[in-house]
Amino acid sequence: MKKVLVTGGTGYIGSHTVVELQQVGYDVIIVDNLSNSQPDVLENITNITGIKIDFEKFDLADRKKTLDFFKRHKNIDAIIHFAALKAVGESVVQPLNYYYNNLFSLMNILQGMLDNNIENLVFSSSCTVYGQPANLPVDESAPVQIALSPYGNTKQISEEIISDTVRTSKLKAISLRYFNPIGAHESAKIGELPIGVPNNLVPFITQTAIGLRDQLKVFGNDYPTPDGTPIRDYIHVVDLAKAHVIAVERMVKKNSKYPYEVFNLGTGKGYSVLEVIKSFEKVSGIKLNYAIVERRPGDITEVWADTSFANLELGWKAEKDIDEMTESAWKWELALYNNRKKTTK
Ligand code: UD1
Repeated sequence: MKKVLVTGGTGYIGSHTVVELQQVGYDVIIVDNLSNSQPDVLENITNITGIKIDFEKFDLADRKKTLDFFKRHKNIDAIIHFAALKAVGESVVQPLNYYYNNLFSLMNILQGMLDNNIENLVFSSSCTVYGQPANLPVDESAPVQIALSPYGNTKQISEEIISDTVRTSKLKAISLRYFNPIGAHESAKIGELPIGVPNNLVPFITQTAIGLRDQLKVFGNDYPTPDGTPIRDYIHVVDLAKAHVIAVERMVKKNSKYPYEVFNLGTGKGYSVLEVIKSFEKVSGIKLNYAIVERRPGDITEVWADTSFANLELGWKAEKDIDEMTESAWKWELALYNNRKKTTK
């Protein structure tokens, strides 16, 4: 049984990936400092898969602890590195926190890999590296543009750190550039759990519909798009999780074409903010309270992926459509609501 270390495995994309890994027979160990996730996610994963998970709680930015972890775990076949801070706005006000956390943790993991002959790394990157691309759909050869936020910059620098390390060692790596992951597992046992006020569109929609927020603010309807609202490539988190399993398989079976590879993970289709709202209203039967307000600084007009490279090379294709995405996000919000009701009884 191949063993995979999943850093950030109790987080949103991490937890869905752990489920998919376990379901195809990987032995998973999670490291997470629980700074933006809850420990009961571990139980919820086990409820889905029936498999208990090895878990260690510590901060991967702590070099001593990280290198010590690797000394104690010699038999890791691959690492998927999710653990990172990810709030774009917060990164603008706390840049050092973002650079410290996201870059030291990556460098510590890479050192641990080199010291212990662990060769396979999957890295959690983002389409934010493309900025507003000149051509759409955007493929992997599009230039990386100056980052709009320290968060985005940590993804760009991380990709460079990985590619430099690959060049000078036996390390192999795959960076997966995600477009906009949304939705939740069909069991509604795991999903996105934003702490405080959500920054992202879909959790804000579902929290408004459930009554936790008064109103969704739509940030601008004067963009040069058909309905005036920005367009993104939303992808179901379970489709995204499956791509990670395939990336791990590609490396452990030594099928990589190059020591360092980069893939876009999206559906290839763009939806506007108003289209996402319409899809949500259709699947939930709820009329959403929203208002058009000023643009949000830093938002680009439109982006969607050219996924042909990932489709061809990974043999992977996103399968779930926008309604399945919003419906699963809504079921998850309802499950959270029912749990809160139970605990306050
Ligand atoms: C951002 C980041 C991306 C990151 C992703 C998930 C950038 C450019 N993008 O994507 O790297 O991976 O978050 O964390 O830094 N919107 C509203 N009202 C809201 C919230 C959002 O109208 O309350 C609109 C936004 O203007 C945007 C769309 O919804 O047009 C999607 O926003 P969001 O979910 O925050 O994702 P991105 O900004 O695309």
